[in-house]
Amino acid sequence: RKAVVKITTGSQALDELLGGGIETLQITEAFGEFRSGKTQLAHTLCVSTQLPTSMKGGNGKVAYIDTEGTFRPDRIVPIAERFGMDPGAVLDNVMMLLSHSILLVCMQRWLKNLSDYWWVFLELTIPNKLNLYFFQKLAQMLSRLTKIAEEFNVAVYMTNQVIADPAGGVFISDPKKPAGGHVLAHAATVRLMFRKGKGEQRVCKVFDAPNLPESEAIFQITGGGIAD
Ligand code: GTP
Repeated sequence: RKAVVKITTGSQALDELLGGGIETLQITEAFGEFRSGKTQLAHTLCVSTQLPTSMKGGNGKVAYIDTEGTFRPDRIVPIAERFGMDPGAVLDNVMMLLSHSILLVCMQRWLKNLSDYWWVFLELTIPNKLNLYFFQKLAQMLSRLTKIAEEFNVAVYMTNQVIADPAGGVFISDPKKPAGGHVLAHAATVRLMFRKGKGEQRVCKVFDAPNLPESEAIFQITGGGIAD
C-alpha cells in the first residue's frame, strides 16, 4: 500500500480538522455557498502541492480542471510568495484544462494522458445543472479519477456548488443534497461543507468522512491564500 501524502491547506486549524491536510489516494469534495472559499482553497493547493513534504507539501505538480473559468493565474503570485516560492516556477507546474460540461469526453481522454505523470492535485468544478448525458459522463469521470488517485498516489480536490433555489434566490444549504447529486457524493471519500462567517472568516465542517470526526474549523481568506 502506498504512503498517504498530506498536503497543507495553508490553515493550521483546517489541516488539523482534516487530520493533517488534503490527502492523496482519495477524493476530497468541497461544497457550499457562493464565495465560501472553495476556489480560494484550490488556488492555495496549487502552490502547497508543490512544496517539499518537509513543509507539508506534496512535492508534486498540479492539474487544474476548470469548468467555470474561475482559475486566476494572478492569484497564484501572492500565494507562491507567501510560501517563499518562485511564482513563475509554480505556474509552470500547474497544467490547466479549461472544460465546459459538453467537453467532458475530451477530459476523459486527457485524464488518460495524465497517468503518465505524477500529478498530486486536481480541481474540478461541478456545474449546478446536470442533464442526463452530463450526469453519465460525470459518473464515468469520477470513477476514472478515483482510480487515478489510488494508482498514482494523487490527491483529488473538487468543488461543488450548493443548489440555489430559483424561487427565493436563497441557498438550500441541505448538505445531503449538493449539486451533482449522489453520483458525486458517492465518489468522494471526504466531503467538506464551506460557509461564510464574519468578514473574511470562513467555516469548514466535515461530512461523511470515514476517519474524521464531524467537527468544524474556522479559517480566513487572505491575499496569500487560505490561512488561520
Ligand atoms: P464561487 O464564488 O461560487 O466560486 O464560490 P467559492 O467558494 O469558490 O468562492 P471563492 O473561493 O472564490 O471565495 C471568494 C472570496 O475569496 C471572496 O469573497 C473574497 O473574500 C476572497 N478573495 C478572492 N480573491 C481574493 C484576493 O485576491 N485577495 C483576498 N484577500 N481575498 C480574496
